[in-house]
Amino acid sequence: MHDEWCLKDQEAQLMILLALKKVGQKCIYHTQTSKDSWDCLKTRYSTGGDRRRRPRRRRDRVPDRGDPHRGSGGSVIRDVIGETLYPQLFAQAEVVRWRMQDIPWRRLDRGAVSDALRQLVREIAFSEMTTATATRRFLTDFPDDIDLTQWIAVWFYEETKHPDVLLRWLRQVGVVVDDRFVHHGRATAPFMRSRMGTLVTNVISEMVASTGYVALRDRSPEPVLGQIAGRLAADEARHCASFYQYARRHLERSRDPDRERRDALKILFMWFHSNELVSHPVSEFFQRHQVAFDITTVRDRVSRLIGLLIGLELTGSSDLGQHLSRLGAKP
Ligand SMILES: [Fe+2]
Ligand SMILES: [Fe+2]
Repeated sequence: MHDEWCLKDQEAQLMILLALKKVGQKCIYHTQTSKDSWDCLKTRYSTGGDRRRRPRRRRDRVPDRGDPHRGSGGSVIRDVIGETLYPQLFAQAEVVRWRMQDIPWRRLDRGAVSDALRQLVREIAFSEMTTATATRRFLTDFPDDIDLTQWIAVWFYEETKHPDVLLRWLRQVGVVVDDRFVHHGRATAPFMRSRMGTLVTNVISEMVASTGYVALRDRSPEPVLGQIAGRLAADEARHCASFYQYARRHLERSRDPDRERRDALKILFMWFHSNELVSHPVSEFFQRHQVAFDITTVRDRVSRLIGLLIGLELTGSSDLGQHLSRLGAKP
C-alpha cells in the first residue's frame, strides 16, 4: 500500500512540475511529496509572491571545465549540505526505496509469458545496461560539479537495479544471459561537449523510459512483470525530475543562457528527428501487437517539459527549427 502510494505520489509530483511556470517550479524544488508541493505553492501564492519565502539562491559556481563554452569561475559552496540539490534528492530516493525482496516472485504466472514478452524484456534489460558507462562519463566530464556527481552515485545504484530485476524475471521464465550481454549493453553513445545537452538528453530519456514502463505496467499480461514495471516507472519519473533540476540550475548559473537554451532545443530537435521513441523496445512491442501506444502524448510531454526548462511554450507539433532560428542557431 505504501509503495503504491509512493509510486502515485511521484507521478503526481512530476505532473505538478510539468504544469508550473518557472517561478512555481523553483518553489517546489525542495519538496518531497506532492502534498509538500501543494503546501509550498499555497504559501508562495497566498502571500502575494512574498520573495522572502523563496529558497536561498545557491552559489556553488564552479569552473565548468568540461564545457568548452564556459569560462573558469570562482568556486563557492559555503555549506555543502545546505546549498546543494543532492541531499534533498537523496532523501526523496530513500523514502521511496524499493528492495529486490519486495517483488512477489511467487506470484509469477509463467503461463502468461509468451516468447515475444521474453524478447521484449530482454531488449529492455539490454537498453538499461548503459548506466555503468554513463556514470563513468558523468564522473569524468563533470568532475568539478560535486552536487551532480554526489547524486549520480544514487542514480547509478538505482539504475543498476533496473536491468538486474529484469534479468531475475527473465531467469524465472527460462532466459539466462552471459557476461557478453552485459558488456555489449554497456556500450553507449559518446557524451556531448555541452553539459546542458547531456543533462537535457537525460531528462528526455528518463521521461521516455518512464512512459514506456507505465505502458508495460498497465498492459503486461504477466502480473509480476507489471509490478516491476510500475516500480521502474516511478524511479524513471523521479530521475527525470532530478535531471531537470540540474539542467535548470545549470541554465540559471550560465554566463550565456541563450547558448544553453539553443543546446537544449537542439537535443529536442534531434530527438524529434531521430525516431528514437518509435524504436523504443516497449513501443515496438505494442506496435507489433496492435496495441495503441500514444507516441503523440509522449512527444507533447517531453516538449512541454523542455519548453518549461528554457522558457518557451512548446508542444509535440512545435516548429523547433523556427525556435532555433529565433535563438540564433541553425537546426
Ligand atoms: Fe532505468
Ligand atoms: Fe532512470
